[in-house]
Order: sequence, then C-alpha cells, then structure tokens
Amino acid sequence: MLNFLQANLKKQYLCHYLKNTMRIDIITVSPELIKSPFEHSIIKRAIDKKLVEVHFHNLRDYAINAYGKIDDTPFGGGAGMVLMIEPIEKCISKLQKERDYDEIIYTTPDAKALNQQTANSLSLAENIIILTGHYKGVDQRVRDLFITKEISIGDYVLSGGELAAAVISDAIIRLIPGVIGDEMSALTDSFQDNLLAPEVYTRPANYKGNKVPDVLLSGNFKKIDIWRENNAIARTKRIRPDLLD
Ligand code: ADE
Repeated sequence: MLNFLQANLKKQYLCHYLKNTMRIDIITVSPELIKSPFEHSIIKRAIDKKLVEVHFHNLRDYAINAYGKIDDTPFGGGAGMVLMIEPIEKCISKLQKERDYDEIIYTTPDAKALNQQTANSLSLAENIIILTGHYKGVDQRVRDLFITKEISIGDYVLSGGELAAAVISDAIIRLIPGVIGDEMSALTDSFQDNLLAPEVYTRPANYKGNKVPDVLLSGNFKKIDIWRENNAIARTKRIRPDLLD
C-alpha cells in the first residue's frame, strides 16, 4: 500500500511536469458495445481533462480479406469460432510502431481475477493495449506471442471481453492522479488495504427510529477513525474473511 502511494505520488509529480497522458488502446470486435462507459461521469471527465486517452480499434479493420474475415473454426473440431492471429498481429504491430506499450492485456475468464493491486500497478503505466476476447477466444499463439498479462474479472463467462475491458479501464483510470477530486479517496477505498470500506451514513441522523452510530455525530475524529477501522475489520471478517488470510 505504501509503495503504491509513493509510486502514485511520483506519477502525479511526473505527469504534472512532463504533461504525459496515460493511453489505453482497446482492440475489439464490437467498439459500439464498449464506448458508453467512457462517455459519462468520472471517466469522461478524466478524458476531457486529458489525464487519459482511450482509443478503440475495430478488429474488422484488420481483417484478412475484403469480407471482413477475422475468425475461423477451431482446428480439431468443436463449437464456436476462434479469433485469428493475423488481424490481431496487424493491429498490435501497427500500434507498437507508434509507441512502446507497458502491457498488452487479454480479457478472458481463464485467467487470474482482477484485484486492487493489479489495478494499482496498471494505473502507473503510460500506454496499455487491451485485447478483448470473443466467441471461443483467440488462437493460443496470440496469447503466447503478444500478450503480457491476462485478466479475468471474475469466475463467470460473459458473452465477450468488452465489458471486462471497460471494468479494467475504469478500475485503472479512477486511480490516475487528478481523476478523483480528493486524491486520498481513491486510496482509501475498499481493498486498498485488503479491508472492505466501513459503513457510511448521512442525514437524517434518525430515520424512523433507525439511528446513525453516536460516535459519527460526536465530532471526535480520533474516535471516529477508530470506529471506522473496527467497523471495516468486522465487516471484512463477516463478508470477505478470505481477504484477511
Ligand atoms: N470474457 C468472458 N468472460 C470474461 C470474464 N469473466 N473476465 C474477462 N473476460 C471475459
């Protein structure tokens, strides 16, 4: 946590002086499916403030023929279509000619699940590519030759990797210095220290007899901090004991 905080502050300093913007290139079969999460709220503001650039690349623009062919049946038989290596190679190598990439990520359910540590470390990158899986996946040689990191967003199968790419991008972008107004708030979220966030309350202090814990109304910030920490630990023990292992 401390290392991330230090690295995050260093990036904040460097970004400020070098004015470099993080860049995410998303390669997908369905650009329209993935654009909307980037057009609203915090992520849109981050893009407007030029703290991050997000570019979408339609894999069909790199098809192997005029009919837009990008996939084929699996060798050895079986259901579904597999994304071919040539269109992906063409797209990735075009991008790599333009700049260096820190990571080339592939979204797939058969990978380690995204967690806060991975989001933290990816938020320190300058340029990343996210290749979204589709159909039955990609030819294994794409994974062997080009991909530097494979990420799942959980143990369930989505109909494509686009939503996973949006989730990964959101988790990264909100950590970029300057994206969230109060810098510390992203760093004190659930999971930053392997604890769930404590409960929060707002007005009214008494809702039909359901009262806010007294300590939160006490104005004693030392006591409030202790209450929050104990509450976070108790919630984690109850809901996600695995995080405490
Ligand atoms: N593609 C399909 N399901 C996925 C998942 N759970 N995580 C990442 N990519 C996926």
